Amino acid sequence: MSTAAQQVHRIAVIPGDGIGTEVVPPAQRVLEAVGRTHGFSFAWTEFPWSCEHYARTGAMMPEDGLEQLAQHDQIFLGAVGYPGVPDHVSLWGLLIPIRRAFSQYVNLRPVRLLRGISSPLRGLEETGLDLVVVRENSEGEYSEIGGRFNRGTPHEMALQQSVFTRRGVERVMRYAMELARSRDGRLTSATKSNGIIHTMPFWDEVLHELTDGTELEVASVHIDALAAQFVLDPGRFDVVVASNLFGDILTDLGAAVVGSIGIAPSANLDPSGEHPSMFEPVHGSAPDIAGQGVANPVGQIWSGAMMLDHLGHPAAAAAVLDAVERTLADDGVRTRDLGGTADTETITAAILENLERSAPA
Ligand SMILES: NC(=O)c1ccc[n+]([C@@H]2O[C@H](COP(=O)([O-])OP(=O)(O)OC[C@H]3O[C@@H](n4cnc5c(N)ncnc54)[C@H](O)[C@@H]3O)[C@@H](O)[C@H]2O)c1
Repeated sequence: MSTAAQQVHRIAVIPGDGIGTEVVPPAQRVLEAVGRTHGFSFAWTEFPWSCEHYARTGAMMPEDGLEQLAQHDQIFLGAVGYPGVPDHVSLWGLLIPIRRAFSQYVNLRPVRLLRGISSPLRGLEETGLDLVVVRENSEGEYSEIGGRFNRGTPHEMALQQSVFTRRGVERVMRYAMELARSRDGRLTSATKSNGIIHTMPFWDEVLHELTDGTELEVASVHIDALAAQFVLDPGRFDVVVASNLFGDILTDLGAAVVGSIGIAPSANLDPSGEHPSMFEPVHGSAPDIAGQGVANPVGQIWSGAMMLDHLGHPAAAAAVLDAVERTLADDGVRTRDLGGTADTETITAAILENLERSAPA
């Protein structure tokens, strides 16, 4: 379906490294297909910024990279990182500058058990699981402040400062509270104020100030106990708000609980809409399976569905997820990480077919 008034979304695409380059094109095909039946389309601009780019030029992206990205509505990223380039170079040379320059202070990570996926947790298929982690994405433990001293001597030391600002903590908590209100009203905050005695009591105080007298059901749980409960009784959580590091670790655990890191999606959001947001799977570039054509594209496709939601197309986003679930559950098409035999192309073709079958006439 094409109309003169069709919306065209300008998307910057950074496939990145390893399986990033293998899962981004299938996800673009799925997004284009759903766009055709829901009345919108995409103008993609691809940027080859990656560890290969770093090896060639000495930088993960050009000096004006952020200005180039700023010309786009949103950013769709695969994964960066490759053996031979230290991980902190790929992270701090590309991902973190994008998240910070564009005020993407919310990292939204759904932890949902899709139909057709078995969890390593006993009985989870019967109860289901659908929670969301709101990870602080712009400050916290991931900071550049610190240093190494007396290198190579017996007095060698390393210092790493965390940065928690009132503005940073308040805005991510307000976002999580709003999200909890739109769901079933339960909010859990990850803390560690018994061991980390400056930043975490501050985190807890801000939570208390903002939620005092609220109608929300609010709990504050130490991250170690929270991690254990994510395995023992994940259904007790709905919206979880966490600092940068805690949220990062908790969501890899969440991805494992709902079947595979290969399916976990994420959105780096600037909720104000002033800057582009960035959508990327939770997984990395998986050098161990790169180049074999066997990577699971579902994490990338689901991240694309989150982008559709953000762009104001919730029906199209739901159609994509529905096609993914029918492929996994009804057709039994699964990639190796989910215990199946399908390669990237086979599962993509099956998802596209399901999408077509359910398209509005
Ligand atoms: N946002 C990002 O770009 C990002 C995130 C995490 C890691 N990384 C980088 O990726 C590289 C590899 O990191 P890692 O091995 O710790 O994590 P990883 O997520 O790349 O891989 C972990 C394991 O999960 C498997 N896996 C991941 N995604 C999969 C998929 N879609 N389908 C099937 N199997 C999948 C891999 O084969 C591997 O065994 C490192 O350089 C790291 O810095 C990047």
